[in-house]
Amino acid sequence: MHPIQIADGIYDVGVNDWNVRDFHGYSTPTGSTYNAFLIVDEKIALIDTVKKEFANQLIKNITEIVPLEKIDYVISNHTEMDHTGALPSIMHRIGKDKPLYCSKMGQKNLAMHYRNNWNYHAVENGEELHLGSRQLTFLEARMLHWPDSMLTYEKKDKILFSSDAFGQHYAGYEKFDDQMDPETLLNHSKKYFANIILLYAGQVQKLLKTVNDLELTFNMICPDHGIIWRKRPDVILDAYAKWSEPIASKKAVVVYDTMWQSTKMMAEQICEGIVSEGVNVRPMNLRTNHRSDIMTELLESSALIVGSPTLNNNIYPTVSDFLTYMKGLRPQNKLAACFGSYGWNGASIKILNSELASMKFNMIDAAGLKIQYVPDDSGLNACFEYGQKIGKAICQSIE
Ligand code: FEO
Repeated sequence: MHPIQIADGIYDVGVNDWNVRDFHGYSTPTGSTYNAFLIVDEKIALIDTVKKEFANQLIKNITEIVPLEKIDYVISNHTEMDHTGALPSIMHRIGKDKPLYCSKMGQKNLAMHYRNNWNYHAVENGEELHLGSRQLTFLEARMLHWPDSMLTYEKKDKILFSSDAFGQHYAGYEKFDDQMDPETLLNHSKKYFANIILLYAGQVQKLLKTVNDLELTFNMICPDHGIIWRKRPDVILDAYAKWSEPIASKKAVVVYDTMWQSTKMMAEQICEGIVSEGVNVRPMNLRTNHRSDIMTELLESSALIVGSPTLNNNIYPTVSDFLTYMKGLRPQNKLAACFGSYGWNGASIKILNSELASMKFNMIDAAGLKIQYVPDDSGLNACFEYGQKIGKAICQSIE
């Protein structure tokens, strides 16, 4: 894509990655973008770069606006390589003595990534950089989502360059929120939050508090991935405020895999029981639902119910994969229960209970529900009643 002017003298010079389908275990069926921003004033600044393999496209985009050597400052909001992979190419071409602005931790991390002795300028929180008519302020955003993360605020047009925060993994010819269906955009944002930002919900609240305390307002929020918020930046700020708080909803997710359909039969009856209590439930078979889509569904659910057959005295590999992924994202304040079929050793239930309890889920029932081999009518009835018990617990938890 060619550069796009997003404000007077400010351009998105980033790239679309149409083909990326996996981001650290997060499925990205619509690709992603690596946004980078060029501010042309009396002085010229480049904010962030792109993945290494897109360096030539970034360079081409910049040179459509200014010769590379005219860049006075490079600002790195975050070290992760989707935003710095092209940095060595850029620094080499613009002159390695040009100042590279980043956080203190950014300086350490960039040095360890690229083993280069660039002309680092490690900024203090709140430090300013004057470009002429425009003035940039650097805001510390430690652990949102790396120790080096910072944000850059442009005062004149009230533009927040927000690094990974407020982004989406979405590649398209649309560039702004007013060019996209609002619900689709919010769903992409939700998946991104559930799979990248969730672990750092506390830091999101801290950032929103800083924004309030400093009475900052934004005309535009420019994340490093996906769509720029220019019409309704309040939509994504409000969504982050909601998603970073504990969520109480009459909604549950039933996640399972099955060996000979018995655990599937159990899952379906448990869902029927949950629904009969007026709770919305989504059954998600791990063979047909990606772990990152399950996390998205879980974000606004009050309870997670996990089912696994016992396989060789253990849980199913797909269930283990999901639990490992979820453990890293640390969802908070949710109920949980577990179930599964077994042959001669019902170890899966004990393992599931222990795993979920270790992740600080509030267990509805310490025993779980296990059924030997294939459930008969009375077994299916027990599953329905188990679902009712779960549904009642969810309703009580949000009263
Ligand atoms: Fe988009 Fe943390 O990198």
